[in-house]
Amino acid sequence: MSNCDFFPNAGGIRPIKYSDGVMRLIDQRRLPTEELWLEYTDYQQVAEAIRSMVVRGAPAIGITAAYGAYFGARDIKAESYSDFISEFDQVCEVLAATRPTAVNLFWALQRMKSLVHANADQPVGNLKIGLEYEAMAINEEDIRINMKMGRHGAALLPDQVRILTHCNAGALATGGYGTALGVIRAAVAAGKQVSVFADETRPFLQGSRLTAWELQQDSIQTVLICDNMAGYLMSKGAIDAVIVGADRIAANGDVANKIGTYTVAVLAKEHNIPFYVAAPISTIDLQIADGSLIPIEERDIREVTHIGEQQLAPTGIGVLNPAFDVTPARLVSAIITEHGVARGNYAEQLADFVRQGG
Ligand code: MRU
Repeated sequence: MSNCDFFPNAGGIRPIKYSDGVMRLIDQRRLPTEELWLEYTDYQQVAEAIRSMVVRGAPAIGITAAYGAYFGARDIKAESYSDFISEFDQVCEVLAATRPTAVNLFWALQRMKSLVHANADQPVGNLKIGLEYEAMAINEEDIRINMKMGRHGAALLPDQVRILTHCNAGALATGGYGTALGVIRAAVAAGKQVSVFADETRPFLQGSRLTAWELQQDSIQTVLICDNMAGYLMSKGAIDAVIVGADRIAANGDVANKIGTYTVAVLAKEHNIPFYVAAPISTIDLQIADGSLIPIEERDIREVTHIGEQQLAPTGIGVLNPAFDVTPARLVSAIITEHGVARGNYAEQLADFVRQGG
């Protein structure tokens, strides 16, 4: 069984490949200088891959966790449903404890659990087969959703457009094609003249290492800038639109995304530049009323004090490393989803999109 051929001509890399019981991930920590693929067959190793950022980006984390849940289920020896489900719950708990902010992780695990609950009358062997298919379906659907989202988003853009993006919301952050970068790919495919400014995205450098790499692979005109250059470029009239992804969108439309996104949104407002968020329905969390309730991951301070082995700050200095921030809904011009574009009254429209199903 293989997913390696999902939408082969859609543009962008497929960072998660699954074939005959083995998942392969491109090690995103090594890009752009090395394309190393790592193999996974064990859920504990999958959890570690998510924690250590071999794979990152909200939808990609969810897909990876779904395959991890399948591996965990496959290796359970129990034959009765009750023993199986209690072990399977533990597998899902380990995977859920890897990263707290991107809700797609919890969404994907819940989907895997729901499949098991809905088929409690089936023999355990059938549940395992079902879980393998479900993980592959989540992966394949994600690419299809991104292509749909891309078309909705591209329609918002003028024929000539210079776009700023932050972090990596591209093929690498998803099953393929990307959310924010999916909109860019769709606009290019529609014949629009698109150029991109990629924020380098300190401290983990997803912009310079990943966004710049994947857009260059697709020959999409891209200029890399340091995060602190965006305001200057906006003041010079060099940016027409901002498009970013999201890790979790609260019921009121507040958006958690990579640290620095909020700064870009404030700058965009000041310069009257539209600020778009592209995200699948699985990123919307209606359980969270507003952005202040979204858990924000704090990562190792070494990501700030070092680049590789190179120390950049004095030993012992106080350091903060929140990995995400929250952009209030009032700064968001539109939220682009696979079901269409929400504007203005996010609470009602997002709830409606979620009702339509993710
Ligand atoms: O810490 P990361 O690299 O997982 O953070 C990723 C982001 O913030 C992305 O912008 C977000 O997940 C959207 S990806 C389609």
